[in-house]
Amino acid sequence: MTTTLKNTLLFFLLTIGCSLQAAEKPQKAAIASAHFMATEAGHRILAQGGNAFDAAIAVSSTLAVVEQHSSGIGGGAFWLLHRASDGKNVMIDGREMAPSKAHKDMYLDEKGEVNRDLALHGPLSAAIPGEIAGLDHLAQHYGKLPLSASLQPAIEAAENGFPAYARIIRHIERKKKILQRYPASMAIYLPNGKVPEVGDLIIQKDLAKTLKAVAKKGRKGFYEGKVAKKLVKANNADGGIWTLEDLKNYKVLEREPIYSEYNGKKLITASPPSSGGIAIATILNILSAWDLNSMDVSKRVHLIAEAMRRAYRDRSIYLGDSDYVDIPSKLLTHPYYAEGLRASISEIQATPSAILPGIGESPKGTDTTHFSIIDTEGNMVSATLTVNTGLASGFIAAGTGVLLNNEMDDFSAKPGEPNAYGLVGDQANAIEPGKRPLSSMSPTIVIGDDEVAVLGTPGGSRIITMVLLGILDFDAGNPPASWVALPRFHHQYLPDKIYAEKDAFTPEMIAALEKLGHTVQVHNGKWGNMHAVHWDKKTGTVQAASDPRNPMAKAEVK
Ligand code: GLY
Repeated sequence: MTTTLKNTLLFFLLTIGCSLQAAEKPQKAAIASAHFMATEAGHRILAQGGNAFDAAIAVSSTLAVVEQHSSGIGGGAFWLLHRASDGKNVMIDGREMAPSKAHKDMYLDEKGEVNRDLALHGPLSAAIPGEIAGLDHLAQHYGKLPLSASLQPAIEAAENGFPAYARIIRHIERKKKILQRYPASMAIYLPNGKVPEVGDLIIQKDLAKTLKAVAKKGRKGFYEGKVAKKLVKANNADGGIWTLEDLKNYKVLEREPIYSEYNGKKLITASPPSSGGIAIATILNILSAWDLNSMDVSKRVHLIAEAMRRAYRDRSIYLGDSDYVDIPSKLLTHPYYAEGLRASISEIQATPSAILPGIGESPKGTDTTHFSIIDTEGNMVSATLTVNTGLASGFIAAGTGVLLNNEMDDFSAKPGEPNAYGLVGDQANAIEPGKRPLSSMSPTIVIGDDEVAVLGTPGGSRIITMVLLGILDFDAGNPPASWVALPRFHHQYLPDKIYAEKDAFTPEMIAALEKLGHTVQVHNGKWGNMHAVHWDKKTGTVQAASDPRNPMAKAEVK
C-alpha cells in the first residue's frame, strides 16, 4: 500500500470515528419536569459541571419543595439510571419501608373493616421515607458534584418561597380539614387560617433547615441526629409508630431493572417493588404479534385493553416487595407466557374480568411526579417520585418542615379491599415490618437503533397504561410532544371497564367497543403529567416535552 493510500485510509477511518463519536453523544441536554423551577434547577446544576445524576438530585429536591402535593423528602422514589460511560442500567429504589411496629391488621377496626382515615391521614399512614437516602446515594455513587451543591436550588426555594399556583391550591382546598388537624401543616398551607391565593409565596424555613442538615451531613442529617429525633417525636405524638431505629435502618437499594423488547426496541423499566415494569412488559409482549399501527382504531383499543386487563390481573395476584415474596418475574415477562395470554384474547369479544381468576387489586397514589433527563454525555434519568395521594398524610412533622407520606395505603390493608385508587391486592402486598408497598411508578427508558425515549408519569393505577400508550406512540414514530399530550384510556382488570379521557374516543369508537362487550366510562378530568425526553442518535439532537395538562411544567433543551 502506498503512503498516500494509507494516509487516505487513515483520514477516512478517523473521519468515520469522529462522526460516530459525535453522533454517539447528544449535542445538548434535555430536562422535562412538572415544575419550571425544578427544570431550571436541573439545568443550573448541569451548567455548574454536574451530570444528569446531579441534575436529578436538583430536580427531585426542588420538586420536593415546590410540588409537595406530589413528592417530597417525606416520601419515596424510583430513579432509573442509564450511565453512558459503561452502559450500566440500574434502578435506585428509594421506596418507603413499613416501620418495624407495622402489622397486617393495623388499619382494621374492631369489625375487621379498613379504617380509611387512619390508612390515609396523619402519621400512622406514613412509611419510613426513602427520598433523602436515594439522593445521597445518587451523589455518592453517580454524581460529579457534592450533594450540597445539587441541593442548593431546593434550599433557596424553601427559604425564599415559591408562588402558589392553581394545582397546589386545589390540593390545599381539598385537604383543608385534614391539614387543620395539625398546627405545623396549618402554618405552611393555611397561614392565618386561609388557603393561599395564586402568587402568594409559600415559604418553608424549617424545610430549608432540614435540607441544609442533609447538605452538610448527607443522609445522616435526616435519618439520625436532631432531625430524626424531631421526626419521631412529632410522629409519635400524633399516633404514629416510627422509631429512631426505623429511620437509621432505612436502606436504599440498587435493583436490576426489568428488561424487555418491543418491535426491536429495548425496554428498560422499573422492577419490583414497582408493578409497572412487569405489567408493561407483559402487555407489550402480548401486543407484539399484532400490527397495531395499521389496524382499525377500535380493534386496536380492544386488543390493548384486553392485554391491560390480563397484566393487571397478574399484578393483583403476584406482585409485592420482591424482598418478601417470590415474584415469578422471568415468567411474567417471558414471550411464551404472553403467547398463552394472547391465545385467550378474542378479537371479536371482550373477556369479562370475572372469568379470569384473580384478586382484582389496584395500585394507588395519583399525586406522584415524574421527570426525565438526558445530558450531553448520554447519561439518562427517568425518575418517578411520590408521597402517594395529594398532600400525602397532611401531616408536617413539627420543626422539620417534612410532610409525611401516606404510602402505607399502597399496601393492601385487607386482601380484596380496594385502596384509594380502587385497586385490590393479595397477600403478596400485605403489610409487614420493613416491607416496601407495591407501587405502580414506571420510570422507563426505551432504546431503539437510532433513537432513545425517556418517559414516565404520575397517575396512580393509570401510570402503567399511560406509560404504555407513550411507548406505543414512540414506536409509531411520533415525537415526544405527542406522547405526553395523547388522550388516554385505561383498563385495570377490576372494575371491568375501559376508562377514557374525554377526547380519547369518538362516539363511533365507543359504540364499536360496546358492541365487542366492553363497558366504556368517559372521564371529564385530565389524567397524568407526563414528562419525556428524546434523543435522535443519527443527528445528535434532543427534544424535551412536558404534558400540556400541567401549565406549571417546563421542558427545556440547553
Ligand atoms: N403511591 C403511588 C405509587 O407508588 O404507585
